Amino acid sequence: MQKITIKKILSKKNKIPITCITAYSKAVAQIADRYCDIILVGDSLGMVLHGMKTTREVKIDHMILYGKTVKNFVKKSLVVLDMPYRTYTNKFIAYKNAKKIIKLTRCDAIKLEGGKKIAKIIKYLVDKGIPVMGHVGLLPQSSATFKLKGRNFMQRKKILQDALAVSNAGAFAIVIECVVESLAKKITKSVSIPTIGIGASKYCDGQILVIDDMLGISDFFPKFVKRYSNLKEIIDKSIKNYTKDVKTRRFPSSKNVYK
Ligand code: KIV
Repeated sequence: MQKITIKKILSKKNKIPITCITAYSKAVAQIADRYCDIILVGDSLGMVLHGMKTTREVKIDHMILYGKTVKNFVKKSLVVLDMPYRTYTNKFIAYKNAKKIIKLTRCDAIKLEGGKKIAKIIKYLVDKGIPVMGHVGLLPQSSATFKLKGRNFMQRKKILQDALAVSNAGAFAIVIECVVESLAKKITKSVSIPTIGIGASKYCDGQILVIDDMLGISDFFPKFVKRYSNLKEIIDKSIKNYTKDVKTRRFPSSKNVYK
């Protein structure tokens, strides 16, 4: 099993679609490692695991805890970890926090949300040897509402400029979240690094989904999510049957007993 490097990810641009998924646990990390190029320990964990209202509530210690777990059980995929809200307010704070996160989790790269405004921070981190993935379009850390981006000219222009700034600052890839297809296509053509889409059409160089959304555990059903399972229903049935068995004394049976 060959470890996926940033060089390998870069080489896939315009050639082979890059496969990415989020993971926060040992079990999912191990399975995702069999199939995915990139595993993101996303700050979406605050909402999907802890029921937080926004990702802004996620702290650096959450990311370190889940980052360590995932990285420990990944052998092949590139592990990227989200820098939480307000942990990269300037380049010095960003470097201090990124260094701490990488030292404690041993993850391969970090992800920052934003474009032109944070380009200098990205460049500083990259110059210091920290691999950075960018994130443009819908930015959950700064946007209170979940809204499609890139319908009007000014927004399209800004998001394209953001993507170019992130790419020119030295990021090795860029997540494009929730934008219209034509804009994702334009960005992917305009930047030299791979684009990873979430709600950003097939014209990106790769795709990412939040694991709980695609497994049907979360209650988040935007149009761009394809649900590959309905685990919520499976879990519901399993717990229902278990409690029925307990009440009727069908569980534990002779098979589950030490004699
Ligand atoms: O936090 C996250 O899971 C993310 C993805 C939506 C890309 O940033």
